[in-house]
Amino acid sequence: MPTKTPVRVAVTGAAGNIGYALLFRIASGEMLGKDQPVILQLIEIPAEGPQKALKGVAMELDDCAFPLLQDIQLFDDPAKGFKDANWCLLVGSKPRGPGMERADLLKDNGKIFIAQGKAIDENAADDARIAVVGNPCNTNCMIAASQARRLPKDRFTAMVRLDQNRAAAQLAKKAGVAVTDVSDIYIYGNHSPTMFADFTHAKIGGKPAAEVIGDEAWLKNEFLPTVGKRGAAIIEARGQSSAASAANALIDHVRDLATPGVVHAVAVPSTGQYGFAEGVWAGMPVRSTASGYEIVTSYEMDDFAKSKIAITNDELVGERDTVKEMLG
Ligand code: NAD
Ligand code: LMR
Repeated sequence: MPTKTPVRVAVTGAAGNIGYALLFRIASGEMLGKDQPVILQLIEIPAEGPQKALKGVAMELDDCAFPLLQDIQLFDDPAKGFKDANWCLLVGSKPRGPGMERADLLKDNGKIFIAQGKAIDENAADDARIAVVGNPCNTNCMIAASQARRLPKDRFTAMVRLDQNRAAAQLAKKAGVAVTDVSDIYIYGNHSPTMFADFTHAKIGGKPAAEVIGDEAWLKNEFLPTVGKRGAAIIEARGQSSAASAANALIDHVRDLATPGVVHAVAVPSTGQYGFAEGVWAGMPVRSTASGYEIVTSYEMDDFAKSKIAITNDELVGERDTVKEMLG
């Protein structure tokens, strides 16, 4: 029988595609540990269809008889849904379709994060941590954090872990090794095609990835665009945006934030590290600590890396300008 105090995990968009691939893994202990009981607080929009679907998902969660799942609570009101939540996973929002860029979603999705940021700040637990998945996730995260008066803004993080996982998989495939042989691959900047998947510090079997792969042109001209445009490639192939791999990345994002010592890529508020503008949420390597994380600032960037970081920073600054009326 579990003895730990349950952790309350609030999830928005819980009846959506990512929600369906996510909730069962949280409830089975893959995110917070096999000895950590959880209470799921599932939030959907008040419309009949999503609320009905949410009830169906809750029925299936019941039917799994997960030993760690202590309660499932369903909400159509974020103020109630985020009450006392320790983790707030902001998935609910519109996905892009073929031919769209994630930034095209800003005007529609951005406003969701004003209300949710406020509801979290007013209702979530004092130790609440927030992970934003809904796109464009870096800037939506900035919008939500701008509503915070009680919670520190650096508790609001956005997910670039799917990009880190994609980058590791591409390097492993090219080198013909297991993905576990790839390390030190981190994502800088925006969750968009401008992101910089830093192959210059990546390692394969402990050696520099560039040396092992021995093909700089491939790294610059194939690897980077493949990782940057992978989301669009999935939409083109599947007809809808990535869901299982996104849910998997969110499990990794939260698990690693909750595990002191792990270094992983997370979009966090910049205070100027790596040349990012102050106040934008940029992907960077962070080291998780007992109470949060610290940004790893020790990587020396060459001119190529600096030029890539400048491009993705410009895009983040541009997105911030676009939403300036939404910032609290
Ligand atoms: P989906 O359309 O299948 O599900 C979204 C759900 O969110 C729907 O059930 C909808 O009713 C709900 N929703 C909408 N507004 C809401 C609100 N204000 N409060 C609560 N729920 C709300 O979409 P999906 O495939 O699950 O994707 C969700 C988001 O995640 C999209 O914005 C997508 O682009 C993004 N995404 C991000 C990444 C990433 O790496 N950051 C990866 C994949 C998808
Ligand atoms: C992804 O990277 O797969 C998601 O952000 C969905 C998208 O729109 O690309």
